[in-house]
Amino acid sequence: MDIFQAIRDRRSIRRYQDLPVEPEKIDQILEAARLAPSWKNLQCWRFIVVSDTSVRQRLLKAFHADNPGTKAIAGAPITIVVCADPRESGVENDISYYIADTAIAFEHLCLAAHALGLGTCWMGWFEEAAIKTVLGIPEPFKVVGVTPLGYPDQAPKPRPRKNLDEIVHHNRWEAP
Ligand SMILES: Cc1cc2nc3c(=O)[nH]c(=O)nc-3n(C[C@H](O)[C@H](O)[C@H](O)COP(=O)(O)O)c2cc1C
Repeated sequence: MDIFQAIRDRRSIRRYQDLPVEPEKIDQILEAARLAPSWKNLQCWRFIVVSDTSVRQRLLKAFHADNPGTKAIAGAPITIVVCADPRESGVENDISYYIADTAIAFEHLCLAAHALGLGTCWMGWFEEAAIKTVLGIPEPFKVVGVTPLGYPDQAPKPRPRKNLDEIVHHNRWEAP
């Protein structure tokens, strides 16, 4: 799949088929994340692939019932928890770049999954302490995001995006 098509057609998927994901595909997706750029190439990210149903059940307690992604975690065969060690990244201009590093890797993962016919849904609304307890994630790791992974059981329409003229400036913030 062409990269522009993958970017254009990816959606957040919140309903999944009751089908397993081939381990080779999971490896391919993680490989795409591994290749992401990062602050000083320090690669602060770590990924926990949860395939065990009982672990997933315990993980669900970290997600609010009102979060539309909670059902996705419950229904997908795989959950991937994306963590980072902030010491393996930098801070500049008050920006903690471990979040940027990990987000890039996370999006590589989502796009690669889509290119392989699989669905993901970036989730940032969760109780971090609960996830760390269930999965035994040590300090000082942060949980940056979580995604379900599986074969989609829906084909959502594209969500709206701002037009380029709302978000792009040329040469200066405001044209004189
Ligand atoms: C940082 C981040 C956090 C998000 N957190 C959640 C979440 O907790 N639950 C959820 O259902 N979707 C979550 N989303 C998915 C967004 O709602 C979704 O990307 C957005 O509505 C655009 O839809 P699309 O991904 O289908 O293009 C999150 C997305 C991002 C990038």
